[in-house]
Amino acid sequence: MNPLISKIAGCGSYLPQRVLTNDELATKVDTSDAWIVERTGIHQRHIAAEGEFTSDLAFKAAERALADAGLVAKDVDMIVVATTTPDNTFPSVATQVQAKLGLGNGAAFDVQAACSGFIYGLAVADNFVKAGQARTVLVIGAETMSRILDWKDRATCVLFGDGAGAVVLVAAENDLGNPGHSRTGNSEARGILSTHLHSDGSLADLLYVDGGPSTSQATGYLRMQGREVFRRAVVNLTDVVLETIAANGLTADDIDWVVPHQANKRILDGTARKLKLPPERIVVTIDRHANTSAASIPLALDVAVRDGRIKDGQLILMEAMGGGMTWGAGLVRW
Ligand code: ACO
Repeated sequence: MNPLISKIAGCGSYLPQRVLTNDELATKVDTSDAWIVERTGIHQRHIAAEGEFTSDLAFKAAERALADAGLVAKDVDMIVVATTTPDNTFPSVATQVQAKLGLGNGAAFDVQAACSGFIYGLAVADNFVKAGQARTVLVIGAETMSRILDWKDRATCVLFGDGAGAVVLVAAENDLGNPGHSRTGNSEARGILSTHLHSDGSLADLLYVDGGPSTSQATGYLRMQGREVFRRAVVNLTDVVLETIAANGLTADDIDWVVPHQANKRILDGTARKLKLPPERIVVTIDRHANTSAASIPLALDVAVRDGRIKDGQLILMEAMGGGMTWGAGLVRW
C-alpha cells in the first residue's frame, strides 16, 4: 500500500455579525483610527454576541467546511479544535462541537498553542491521518478573543477579534511516495506536504493571559510586550518558512500563496520582505478580521478559496507565531 497523505477536502469559516470599527473603539478607549491603521493595518474586527461562545463559532465553521467538502457529520472520525478561549475549562470545545454535530463516536480534543494553534492542530491531525488512525478529521481554529481583552488597555484591545475557520482533512493514498521531510519525497503530491512546529517556553512572559484555574484566580486578561513580540515574530516566522521550503526541496519562488497568521500588517510585510516574497502573494485579512489568534489562518484560507485566488494544484504555505512562544508552518498542495 502507498503511504497515506492528508488532503484538504473542504474549508469554511464563520464571523460573528457584530462589527466593531476603529472609530467606534475610539469612543471607548484613548486611540484613533489613524493610529490603529498605521501601526497594525486593522480597520475593524468582529465581536461575538452575548451568549455566543467559541463552540458556537467553531460549529458554524465546521458545518460550512463539511458542506464544502461534500461530506456529512457522520463521516467525521476526529475533531481537533485549536483555541485559547474555550467555553469552559473542560469539556473541550472539540467535544462540544462533536455534540452539536450530533456525533457520539470518534475522538475530539482541543490543542492550545495560542495564535499558532491552527498549525499545531493541523500537524497533529495530519500525523493521525498518516498513521492510519483517522480518516476524516475536522481541524478548527476558533476564538472569542474579545472575552480575554482588557478593554481599558489600548495597547492590546485594538488588536484582536473573534471568529472561526475549519478545514476537513481526508486520508488518501499517495501514489507519489512520501512528501516533505523525506527530501527525496516530492512536492507534486496533493495534500499536506509537511508541517514544522517550534516553541520556546522561556519566552512566556512576552505574551500571556494572567489568571486561570490552577492559579486559583479567575481567567484574566491578555498581556503583551508588543515590541519584543513584533521583533521575534519576524525572525522566527522567516526561519520557519525557510525551513519548510527547504524540507520540500523548493524555493520561495515556488510558493503560490502564503496564508499567514494575521497578527499585524507590519509583521506580514516585514516577513515577506525578508523572504523576498511579493506582497501580492500574501493573503491579508487583518484589515477586516484583526487578529483572531488560532482562527486567523483558516479564516484567511477560506476567504482566498471563496474569492478564487487559491486554485487546484497550487502550493500554499501557512505560518504562525503566538504565545508560549510557539511558532510553526505547514505546506499544502491544494
Ligand atoms: N492608540 C494610540 N496610542 C497607542 C495605542 C493605541 N491603541 N497603543 C499604544 N499607544 C501608544 C503608547 O502608549 C506609546 O505612547 P508613548 O510613546 O506616549 O509612551 C506609543 O503609542 C508607542 O507605543 P509602542 O507600544 O512602542 O508602539 P509600537 O509601535 O510598538 O506598536 C504594537 C504597538 C502595534 C502593539 C506593536 O508593538 C505590535 O504590533 N507588536 C506585535 C504584537 C502583536 O502582533 N501581537 C499579536 C499577538 S502575537 C502574534 O499574533 C504574533
